Formats: sequence, C-alpha cells, structure tokens
Amino acid sequence: MKTSFLNLKMNNPLVLASGILGLTASSMKRVVENGCGAVTTKSFNLEARKGHPNPSIVPFDHGLLNAVGLSNPGAEEAVKEISRFKEISDVPIFASVFGRTIEEYGKVAEIALKAKPHLIEVNVSCPNVRSEFGTPFGDVPEDTAEITRLVKQVAGDIPVSIKLGPHGPGIARMAKVCEENGADAITAINTAGPGMLIDINVQKPVLSNKTGGVSGPAILPIAVKSVYEVYKNVSIPIIGTGGVTYWQDAVQMILAGATLISLGTAVYYEGIEVFNKINGGLRDYMNQFGYTSIADFRGGAH
Ligand SMILES: Cc1cc2nc3c(=O)[nH]c(=O)nc-3n(C[C@H](O)[C@H](O)[C@H](O)COP(=O)(O)O)c2cc1C
Repeated sequence: MKTSFLNLKMNNPLVLASGILGLTASSMKRVVENGCGAVTTKSFNLEARKGHPNPSIVPFDHGLLNAVGLSNPGAEEAVKEISRFKEISDVPIFASVFGRTIEEYGKVAEIALKAKPHLIEVNVSCPNVRSEFGTPFGDVPEDTAEITRLVKQVAGDIPVSIKLGPHGPGIARMAKVCEENGADAITAINTAGPGMLIDINVQKPVLSNKTGGVSGPAILPIAVKSVYEVYKNVSIPIIGTGGVTYWQDAVQMILAGATLISLGTAVYYEGIEVFNKINGGLRDYMNQFGYTSIADFRGGAH
C-alpha cells in the first residue's frame, strides 16, 4: 500500500479531498487516524469569505449538490492550521489555494508556503471561481497556463497540482497546458455541473444559490473517464477524485491511471472509517491478483 507520489512517500494512496473536514488541524488529524494517507485543506484565498447562505449543501440519492461558495477563514488563518497539523502529524498535507484574480493565486500561494505544505493544489475549477469571462479560470487555457506558471514560480521546489474540472475545452487538453507550464501533478476532477434540484413543495430551487456542483457516486463515471483521458495525454501523476465511495471505485481510478485517490462526498455518506475500509478492499484486491504495489496495476485499463 506504500505509495510514492512525486517526492513524497505515503502509507497508502488515499487523500482527503479539499472542502471536507479540511478547515482545522484537529479535524484533519481525525481523518488521518482513520487511515488517510494525505490530507488536503479547504481551498482558501487572500481574505476570509463567508460563502453562500444556507441551504448550501443538499444530499440526494446519488451524491451531493453544493454551493458552499468557497467559505474560508483566509490565507493567514489557513497557514496557522497547516503549521499546527504538521506539529501533530507526519502525514503529508496539501494546501488548496484559489484567487479571485490571476495575480491573487500567486499571492495566496506565497502565504501558503510559509507553512511549507507538501504540495500546493491550485483550485482553478470550482464552479464558484469565475474569471472575467464568467467561467472558471480552469476552462480558459490561457488563464490556466498563466496561473500554473505563476504558482510554480512562487512554489519553487514544493510540488504544484492543478485541480481541473470535467468541463471547458476538454480536460486532457487542459492537463497538457498545465504540464507544459510547469505543473507537477493534476487533480481530476472538481465537482461536475453545475446542477440544480427543485423542492417540489416550495416549487423553488433547493440551494439558495440555485445551482451548485455535483459530487459523489453520480459523477464516478465522469471522473474515471477524465482520469483515463488525462493519463493518456500527460506524464505527470494524477490525483483521481470524484465519486469514489467503495474500494472497487478506487481500483477503477488506479486502472484509469491515478497515482493517488481522494475522497470527499464518501466521507459525508460513509463516515471517516471509509478510508480504512477502502484500504482493506484495495489490499485484498492486490492479494487476489498477486500485486505487490499499486504501481503494478496503475493505468492497467489502457
Ligand atoms: C461540500 C463540498 C465542498 C467542497 N469544497 C471544495 C473546495 O473548497 N476546493 C476544492 O478544490 N474542491 C472542493 N470540493 C470538491 C471536492 O474536493 C471534490 O473534487 C469533488 O467533490 C468530487 O469528489 P467526491 O465525489 O469524492 O466528493 C468540495 C466538495 C464538496 C461536496
């Protein structure tokens, strides 16, 4: 189960996805105690953000619809939590950053680096991060290229992963843009959509923001396909994300080409024990097929 990822050695390939239990050092520590190999912080930007009013997260049969609106305490507070986490845990921590402008991405990364996270994950794909064109920066190749260059320049030796969504001009093409501009890894995918659910009694959209990102089992096929496409097109490693709930889903991600697998919505539905459960299933699968490491079957579906 030991996994090498860039310059990191991890006990297993499972990561806590950004936006779930990643606000405080103590909540992230609790996830680690339940078998998680690395944690990602909630995305943060320069100033604290309140986010959208409730209801901002709605469960449905096959996942979650959310428009949290990137609520966060701001970069300086986030840095304190990252430092605190590093004091109480040896597990790698990934700092998730975003900006309202391209320049802000660089500034936030600079602040994040004060805590020396093991990786900077750059969120260019949240449905709530809009460029001046009204689309996420991650849907615009030029913006994504510039953000990647900027953050990598600031980050130096600290690896940078660009988190892409399934939309825009094609995730394989966008991943290539990131690789060509210095990204060390790709995180695929962010939430899909946006989508909408309507309360049939009130006869209005359920979310106060009306629309939100779709996550959980509903998006697993989109996430697996995205990882498969990205793996074909770039040689940097992939953090496969989206809809992974059971060990079988994690195996699919690895067969598609993921080096690490992150879990978000599964933590909501299955509890933090989900990490140990998936690790157990992965171990049994490897024994059954006679694999001695995850690398033995990574990309095997190609
Ligand atoms: C409530 C909620 C909040 C999220 N917040 C963030 C965030 O701050 N930054 C980010 O990059 N992704 C965020 N995400 C997206 C997840 O990290 C992940 O990419 C997505 O939910 C798909 O994975 P999953 O199906 O395992 O949840 C959020 C997802 C949910 C459900």
